[in-house]
Amino acid sequence: MKLEMTGIQKSFNQTPALLPTDLTLEHGKFTTLLGPSGCGKTTLLRMLAGLEQPDAGEIRADGQCIYSAAKRIDIPTHKRNLGMVFQDFALWPHMTVYENVAFGLKAGKQKSDLRQKVNEALGMVRLQGMEDRYPHQLSGGQQQRVAFARAVAVRPGVILFDEPLSALDAVLREEMRIEMMSLVRDMGLTALYVTHDQIEAMSMSDEIVVMQKGRILQKGSPETIYSAPSDPYVASFIGKSNWLTPNQSMVRPEHVTWNKTGHDDLCYPGTVLSVSYVGERYEVRVQMEGLGVWTAYMNQRMCVGERVQLYVAPERICRMDGYDHPSMKQNEAIAVAY
Ligand SMILES: Nc1ncnc2c1ncn2[C@@H]1O[C@H](COP(=O)(O)OP(=O)(O)O)[C@@H](O)[C@H]1O
Ligand SMILES: [Mg+2]
Repeated sequence: MKLEMTGIQKSFNQTPALLPTDLTLEHGKFTTLLGPSGCGKTTLLRMLAGLEQPDAGEIRADGQCIYSAAKRIDIPTHKRNLGMVFQDFALWPHMTVYENVAFGLKAGKQKSDLRQKVNEALGMVRLQGMEDRYPHQLSGGQQQRVAFARAVAVRPGVILFDEPLSALDAVLREEMRIEMMSLVRDMGLTALYVTHDQIEAMSMSDEIVVMQKGRILQKGSPETIYSAPSDPYVASFIGKSNWLTPNQSMVRPEHVTWNKTGHDDLCYPGTVLSVSYVGERYEVRVQMEGLGVWTAYMNQRMCVGERVQLYVAPERICRMDGYDHPSMKQNEAIAVAY
């Protein structure tokens, strides 16, 4: 299902939670809303689901209007053809696994047909044989798989996830992340996923929408968001960034080298602040002269306090708005002089 939002906005008690926003979710794509707590992700998702009413704007599903403030159209949640998975699983505690999954399926189905659909959904999440258990008899990961099975059993046009893995421990979170991503992909579902976790967003998504303070800063593939951030906030929020000029130009740690690799490399002096061994490499934090602290990667241990030179190839520099500010040119000139 293709979903288009235009001019959607929402305030609570005169305070904007989401500023006027346009966003399109492409059919069959996995889109993630990524941003810090309070930036408006849940509000946007809930408006899409019909759980929160926008103050203005329009929402279309496959071209059909499902919400319009101006036209007074507001299709209720249960008619929007969507599935939802939340952080707290939201399973009915008094119902068995079977009953929880069956609940979402439309009434009027033949009993045998219903049983087949439920079994199919439970099979997908590898919970066959657990039909008669109650939620409290399941682990967190199993509960979330039931919630997922319930959401997809109806074959919704879009599935909405709001921080579905936040309540799980780190190991299980990674396992479930891969499992959910694969299931969503295999089923060809259109998905909107909300998280504040950049690793989740980067690893699962076709498209990432980075939000801050009720607005969208950038939308793009994980690769684009990482390698060509259009906004300093995006650059800082995702991955590590080494700033050449504040808020204007930066380089990623993997593109900082300890030796000159090209004749036009820029060279920056600094002093090693700390060294962290992370298994496959050393992450070295360096206090740069006249600049901030950078991160660079090394294959052997460095000494804290050691004076070093770091090199950056000009084509590896990401420039954001206003990069032609005089200080940029000045800093590049300073670098060349060393
Ligand atoms: N029902 C509500 N009543 C009042 N304020 C709300 C309500 N829901 C959300 N907000 C506020 O709107 C802003 C965005 O919230 P939310 O969409 O939940 O952010 P996120 O999901 O990104 O953490 C926050 O400042 C939050 O406090
Ligand atoms: Mg939220």
